[in-house]
Amino acid sequence: MSDLDTQLDELQKRFAAALAQATDERTLEAVRVAFLGRSGEVTTVRRTIGALPPNERPAAGKTINDAVEAMEGKLLEAASSLENRAFETDLAQSIDVTFPAIPAQTGSIHPVRRVIEDVATYFARRGFAIVVGPEVEPDYYNFDALNIPSDHPAREGFDSFWLTDTLLLRPHTSPMQIRTMQEHKPPVAILAPGKCYRRDAVDARHLFQFHQVEGLLVAEGIHFGHLKGMLAGMCRELFGAEQQVRFRPSFFPFTEPSAEVDTTCPKCKGRAGECNMCGGSGWIELGGSGMVHPNVLREVGYDPGVYSGWAFGFGAERIGLTRYEVDDVRRFVNSEPEFLKQLQ
Ligand code: DAH
Repeated sequence: MSDLDTQLDELQKRFAAALAQATDERTLEAVRVAFLGRSGEVTTVRRTIGALPPNERPAAGKTINDAVEAMEGKLLEAASSLENRAFETDLAQSIDVTFPAIPAQTGSIHPVRRVIEDVATYFARRGFAIVVGPEVEPDYYNFDALNIPSDHPAREGFDSFWLTDTLLLRPHTSPMQIRTMQEHKPPVAILAPGKCYRRDAVDARHLFQFHQVEGLLVAEGIHFGHLKGMLAGMCRELFGAEQQVRFRPSFFPFTEPSAEVDTTCPKCKGRAGECNMCGGSGWIELGGSGMVHPNVLREVGYDPGVYSGWAFGFGAERIGLTRYEVDDVRRFVNSEPEFLKQLQ
């Protein structure tokens, strides 16, 4: 190998190594200038031709030109591979606007909330005001004003979470009857939904915190038939067109007469038999009701000789269990979004 060949060979090796190091257009250009530029390494080699005997010069010139050609080829290759890499990086970073979006997590209305809203809507459409009140009540609103004096055994069933000697977490929404009547002259028509608390052990049908919907209508000439009509309509709206209601005699200190309200079991449609929803009776219990006791009317300054009214208080979870055919009330509060989402 001639000196020139060795020199060029070594030069090309260094050139290839420098190219391999070049990571962008700028460093690539620096390599080009250092090797192939006007005062680069190849020019230095070219200058040595002058020192050769004239007959060797053309061959030497061709050798150098071949080497330059090869180097220029490698330079182009390196430039285009850099370009490709940059393009690929660009592509990887760009956003495909046609790619389907990840669906937004929208959540769903809780079934108990849905029950309350549907009951409220039914009564609101019939001119009832929707009212909400405190969850902490003085015993006056919770008991005394509702015709439950302090020595009355009915207090026992409502025994709740006492915060002081006279303040408690309300065990029912009935205090809203008193609050409304004390603030407004008759006629009054309200639907009062809200949370209630009772010292109940939690099981498939009980929670210590639950919801009630309380209804009250007081005006002249109101009788039990009005109550029956309103509740039958409500049940048809909640459960279906064929629903019926039935009243079973009961006792509440704040109503006289008092009744428990049942509606046709929406699962077996009242056919009873083996139904696991109603236990075979064909009826589902909704809660209590009755004609507002004269003592309650007197307490709020209404004349029982002129005004009469009905009231009811139903458990929202109870309605939910029946409406959505859920077998355990705890499922409403267990934070299972996937389960709750199905109950619309
Ligand atoms: N407050 C009663 C309870 O929680 C239910 C009730 C019964 C409400 C009769 C009423 C009513 O408004 O008239 O057990």
